[in-house]
Amino acid sequence: MYQNRGTMTAFPVGDEMIFISVFIVKEQIRGRGIGTRFLRYIMDINPEKNFALEGAVPAIPLYERMGYKDSGCVLEYLEIPKAYPMKNYTTPSDIRVRRIKVKDDVEAIGDFDKSVSHVDRVEYMTHWLLASHCQAFVAIQDGACVGYACFRHVRNTVKVQPLYAEKAAVATALIQCYLLGAQTDASHLHFSLLNQGKHPHIRDTFQKFGDVIQSEVIANLMFTKEVIQYPLHKVFGMSNTDTTPI
Ligand SMILES: CC(C)(COP(=O)(O)OP(=O)(O)OC[C@H]1O[C@@H](n2cnc3c(N)ncnc32)[C@H](O)[C@@H]1OP(=O)(O)O)[C@@H](O)C(=O)NCCC(=O)NCCS
Repeated sequence: MYQNRGTMTAFPVGDEMIFISVFIVKEQIRGRGIGTRFLRYIMDINPEKNFALEGAVPAIPLYERMGYKDSGCVLEYLEIPKAYPMKNYTTPSDIRVRRIKVKDDVEAIGDFDKSVSHVDRVEYMTHWLLASHCQAFVAIQDGACVGYACFRHVRNTVKVQPLYAEKAAVATALIQCYLLGAQTDASHLHFSLLNQGKHPHIRDTFQKFGDVIQSEVIANLMFTKEVIQYPLHKVFGMSNTDTTPI
């Protein structure tokens, strides 16, 4: 019988890049080369591609050994241990938020996503946003997508990744919509930010839903070939997961 000893997912992003995420080896068997074999396998069968991942700090020597270079882009995380929907909040009448449930809904965010990420990654986003442990929402204004957010349950935490919004009111509407339908009374929300451009409003937005208790540096965005820089000043908030900044 096979036992699951680790996982890794690798999504194509456009024609040239592959984004690696959910790369985890069981704790009891780390340090025995399993992670190296995962990385070697996926890189060997895609020799032409540029690989990207969020390198967890303790594992950075492993990535560097495999040829990954640090982009200098550090991921910071904000957390709200108990996030509640806002009382007395009404979504602005011109913004409509709805759940992303099927492939057509993902296609509806395609143009907006391309304008913020600069790559065509609808295929990648389809896997990401429609995964069974994800709840994703799109905000529509004047018939066009103005933002979207994905909420992923990882153990007892809900990771918000990515969150793109043209303005704070859109981000607020997306988070409120998720929290109103959340199964638990309180969610531990976890947001990741990138340090390339500061997002002065995002902390204010998150604070409407609870106390933001910390901001910590956990991971560095790393690439094997070309280091991609994202024009983050153009977006209100984002993450990569796993965000996934691509
Ligand atoms: C990163 C990870 C997948 C590596 O898997 P692995 O099977 O231990 O990897 P390998 O045995 O091939 O390589 C070990 C390397 O990982 C690093 N490492 C990180 N945490 C480690 C741990 N708890 N035990 C052993 N090695 C660890 C070390 O740098 C080590 O390098 P070294 O061999 O030069 O000492 C695994 O440590 C893990 O699941 N970590 C938690 C989840 C995570 O951070 N994922 C990465 C997100 S992209």
